[in-house]
Amino acid sequence: MLIAKTIAEARAAVAQLRVERRCIGLVPTMGALHEGHLSLVRAAKTACDAVVATIFVNPTQFAPGEDFAKYPRRFETDCALLEAEGVDVLFAPDAAEMYPAGASTVVEVENISDRLDGQSRPGHFRGVATVVAKLFNIIQPNHAFFGQKDAAQVAVLRRMVRDLNFNLELVVCPTVREPDGLAMSSRNHYLSAEERQRALVLSRALRHIEARIAAGVVDSARLIDAGLAVLAEEPEIRLDYLRIVDPETLEDVADVSAGTLVTVAAVVGPARLIDNVLVPPR
Ligand code: PAF
Repeated sequence: MLIAKTIAEARAAVAQLRVERRCIGLVPTMGALHEGHLSLVRAAKTACDAVVATIFVNPTQFAPGEDFAKYPRRFETDCALLEAEGVDVLFAPDAAEMYPAGASTVVEVENISDRLDGQSRPGHFRGVATVVAKLFNIIQPNHAFFGQKDAAQVAVLRRMVRDLNFNLELVVCPTVREPDGLAMSSRNHYLSAEERQRALVLSRALRHIEARIAAGVVDSARLIDAGLAVLAEEPEIRLDYLRIVDPETLEDVADVSAGTLVTVAAVVGPARLIDNVLVPPR
């Protein structure tokens, strides 16, 4: 696996890959890799002829006071994991390489970026869209792989790809869970054993809503009440939102149908955690 630290090195490495191989898959990450990330790499390996992964803890998607400084950084371990998965190129720039002095251009996906996580984390999705647009321009992949766990991020990036005519397919891979249901997240590292136990209420609430939907309930207000009753079992978590929305626009829907997004965010101890499910076809 070739490790590129600069944009010039990354471009040269990708140009070399393109000499022999047609389809390039990109897996953007902020490191602290877990099985969720590795599932994206495996999907990219299956769909593409060559895989480029990136590790960059992007400062512009963290607001002041958020966890940028303490976000887990495990570069050596991550490299070993990516190498073992057969990644061809790892692009791991530093902040000065990605944002040279005077950088003043941003990508703003209006409206969607202010919903769900964007409402609680103003500016977050501007940072995400800007850095992902830059990665798309640097690597120019044919496919780019993201996790369904970050459903609002997926909606923002889908819209950006459409609006800015990026010539690539965005591939969304299922959320990977621990055996007890906890959605995998680099932020799970922040949890004590007790907090981790509390965090299970998020997936439990989603499963309960899924069961109510399977039993025929379609009214979002009733489903949210059912989910809130489960979330109340853990009064120490601080609920940010439990919403039932259209997965493209992130706007609330009155009734669920196939593909509707049921999504939750809560602060558990030091970690802000998110999780979601998509309503299956009937
Ligand atoms: O999902 C993430 O890890 C980040 O938001 C991303 C897409 C790598 C952009 O920094």
